[in-house]
Amino acid sequence: MTKGNFYITTPIYYPSAKLHIGNTYTTVAADAISRFKRLSGYDVMFLTGTDEHGQKIQRLAEKKGVTPKEYVDEIVAGIKDLWKMMNISYDKFIRTTDDYHIEVVQKIFKTLYEKGDIYKGHYEGSYCTPCESFWTENQLVDGKCPDCGRPVEKAKEEAYFFKMSKYAPKLIEYIESHPEFIQPESRKNEMLNNFLKPGLQDLCISRTSFDWGIPVTFDEKHVIYVWIDALANYITALGYGTSNDELYKKYWPADVHLVGKDILRFHTIYWPIILMALDLPLPKQVFGHGWLLVDGGKMSKSKGNVVDPVVLVDKFGCDPVRYYLLHEIPFGADGMFNNEIFIKRINSDLANDLGNLLSRTVAMVEKYFDGTIQAPTCKEDIDEELISLALETPKKLEDHISELKIPEALDEVWNLIRRANKYIDETTPWILAKDESKKERLGTVLYNLCESLRIVSVCISAFLPETSEKMNLQLNTDLVSWDSVASFDGTKAGAKVKKGEAIFPRIDVDKKLEELNKLKEEQQKALKKKEMKPIKEEITIDDFEKIDLRVVKVLDCEPVKGAKKLLKLKVDLGGEERQVVSGISKYYKPEELIGKKVILVANLKPVKLRGELSQGMILAGSTNDDSELFVGTIDGDLESGNIVR
Ligand code: MSP
Repeated sequence: MTKGNFYITTPIYYPSAKLHIGNTYTTVAADAISRFKRLSGYDVMFLTGTDEHGQKIQRLAEKKGVTPKEYVDEIVAGIKDLWKMMNISYDKFIRTTDDYHIEVVQKIFKTLYEKGDIYKGHYEGSYCTPCESFWTENQLVDGKCPDCGRPVEKAKEEAYFFKMSKYAPKLIEYIESHPEFIQPESRKNEMLNNFLKPGLQDLCISRTSFDWGIPVTFDEKHVIYVWIDALANYITALGYGTSNDELYKKYWPADVHLVGKDILRFHTIYWPIILMALDLPLPKQVFGHGWLLVDGGKMSKSKGNVVDPVVLVDKFGCDPVRYYLLHEIPFGADGMFNNEIFIKRINSDLANDLGNLLSRTVAMVEKYFDGTIQAPTCKEDIDEELISLALETPKKLEDHISELKIPEALDEVWNLIRRANKYIDETTPWILAKDESKKERLGTVLYNLCESLRIVSVCISAFLPETSEKMNLQLNTDLVSWDSVASFDGTKAGAKVKKGEAIFPRIDVDKKLEELNKLKEEQQKALKKKEMKPIKEEITIDDFEKIDLRVVKVLDCEPVKGAKKLLKLKVDLGGEERQVVSGISKYYKPEELIGKKVILVANLKPVKLRGELSQGMILAGSTNDDSELFVGTIDGDLESGNIVR
């Protein structure tokens, strides 16, 4: 008899680059919840996968000179390896390039078109390729994508639209009458107040400017918007819309979609509306977890601070990484990944608290009883506190997990571990061992420790599966069911413990930190090298001497009418006034430049830009991706017209 079905999903990841510790976090959390639900009696379906279409992937593949499918195949293989390495127990891995998914997405699109919820119109606006999101002018922040802050591209084309607005009132009512639907609570208010209540616009759901997507069957030049394609995975993976839809009937609606806070909007607005339009039930809960930050900020390739889980697992093993992710990040809020805290936690919580408890206990059973666990025949009052805590812990754990409070759940287990360590200090087995008449009491104390450890092992099996198995081997127990932790008698008297290696060897903090820091430096160096534009062909000093660089003071500055990118500067070249047109309006407001002393290429042939004369060029430095730019200024008190060499 199962307690019921439980369907949990992770987002499907973009296979645009290998996954980092942030993506790993979502999947490890979903895995822990899945394992715990299976352990505690549920019939679980755990879905993950990859979101493989879209312009970004198409461009990356073009750059690499391979087909988009070849490009994603390689990355998806790496993602599957990563999940194996992280011990992820998914039941199904969906790829949006799978045939069955493509067919059903096309069917859904057609159904909604025939129903009148999708119509053809024209799209005009801005598109953020990395986020695969459309934005209207007033949604942009400083002209950039409101989600990621990167530049957007103008787009105008024939497109299909989804009548989001039609379903908005129904969705608002649903969210308000189902407080558990969007979690945590604060995120629910954000969705309602920032997106739904100000009014929903119809959503543009097709593109014609690229073709790496699912074609609209009745209008093949259009591909379906990648978010519609992606969100549908949660039902296509279960066989929805096919003749083989048993899994769909069994598991839908999902119990929880676990997603990062950045994609909550898609899951709590677009997805429910699509489901409403299809007359399908909504998922029971969408949980938006926080971000894993590094050095106080977002991980990003351009900063070179991306933490690679493969490196961490190679150096420290899978369970320490799982433990850090599950325990250190408050579920639902942002958290930090920090090498030093990571290593210190392994030493304190895993090596000291848990590892020592196991090794001390097993060593004492070996030393005093030749490895044989004794029957607990000599109880004392002092045992009660440990035993009752061991019996309460599984229940508390279950309660926390039912609210997806993973760090709190682990805290309960560590309370028990610490209590058991304290029990050793209180009962002093090494003193009992000196007195032959206390032998029975000593056997009981060690039994209580073995049984507490067995309960700990069952409790952590969902979070640290490898560790739990290693503990069971040393404790020589195969009693690992959830039912078995309801009473304090599962350990068999007469069984022989088997001392093994330390489950978490202590780590030399300084040494490992140095190793990790070195790796980070190498990563940053490699990145700089990779992104740096190639050095141009060699020139001689005579070539350089031809360029006349001068200090000039900016006297005035204004935008060039009709040319968004250009600024018109009036500069003083030591008594001579010049006009220079520069493409820097994205980076500077005119008033920020006035009064600055900058460097001018003074002998550059004058040109007309948008009808304005430009007598020279201002020097500026920019980041490799041109996201930031600064004009070169003079550090010192030089006069206008002075030479720069
Ligand atoms: N393909 C979409 C999801 C479609 S689901 C129908 C997508 N993919 S993603 O690869 O960009 O991101 C996947 C998940 O990783 C998101 O939930 C996102 O929040 C999460 N994370 C990405 N970076 C993260 C951190 N630094 N920290 C925590 N989670 C982060 O979005």
